[in-house]
Amino acid sequence: MRKENTDTFDWTSHIAELGDRPALTDPWEQELVAAIIRHVPKTENPRILEIGCSNGRWLNWFKDEYGGEAHGVDNNPAGSAFVPNFHLSDARQLPFSDGWFDIVFSFGLVEHFPTRTERLRLVREHARVTKPGTGIVIILIPNLDISLDRYYIKLYYDWRRGYKHYVVTARELKRAFRESGLIDVAFQWNGWIVPSLARILLGHLKKYLPRPAVAIETLCERRLKRRLPPTRWTAQNILLISRKSAGGDEM
Ligand SMILES: C[S@@+](CC[C@H](N)C(=O)[O-])C[C@H]1O[C@@H](n2cnc3c(N)ncnc32)[C@H](O)[C@@H]1O
Repeated sequence: MRKENTDTFDWTSHIAELGDRPALTDPWEQELVAAIIRHVPKTENPRILEIGCSNGRWLNWFKDEYGGEAHGVDNNPAGSAFVPNFHLSDARQLPFSDGWFDIVFSFGLVEHFPTRTERLRLVREHARVTKPGTGIVIILIPNLDISLDRYYIKLYYDWRRGYKHYVVTARELKRAFRESGLIDVAFQWNGWIVPSLARILLGHLKKYLPRPAVAIETLCERRLKRRLPPTRWTAQNILLISRKSAGGDEM
């Protein structure tokens, strides 16, 4: 039987809670933007597309950094109140012609599709609407390989909030890129998870024991400045940046 990506999570309230720009305070966000700036060239008036855009906070970051024309797709209409060029559509069947965009990205989308076939179809659709030869595709997914983040996401999001995530490994994602005619530009494990977990725990502790929580926070801040680099086990997410091949010969 075919599994559907239906879950009980309330996307509409989630979208309304997001800020209009990413906070850029978490290590994974800082590493993500540094990698994008390093690997994605600036061109004149690029057409940019975010698939699964929610309120378009990352789309706003791209527009600030790269200029051009920004479009967002989501299958939840809540985003239309925030994203100027909003398209209500399913990510697996985008309402755009082939090669229309210079930069196509999705952050936190692929892992919500339950089967490999669906995920491959999704990556192929990213590639289809990207300009051959120069167009860039960027995908970020949580690190659900064998990692600390996997258990955090399973316990906190899937179990507690009813927001389902399916395991997508780095290997599967790289393979889907190759099969979609996308050539790797950069791959990285992003964000050491411990600072984020510490922040969440301290946030809860502050409600009950504010003074000790602040003291621990100050101590942690000092220690975490010397944080370890993210690895397969400790990274929060996986980032893949690629270029669309000009034709079969490059693949
Ligand atoms: C985890 S959120 C990520 C949002 C945004 N990229 C961000 O980082 O703030 C996933 C988004 O994908 C959208 N989505 C889920 N399945 C989709 C589908 N089949 N087609 C289009 N959008 C979808 C959801 O409505 C949601 O807004």
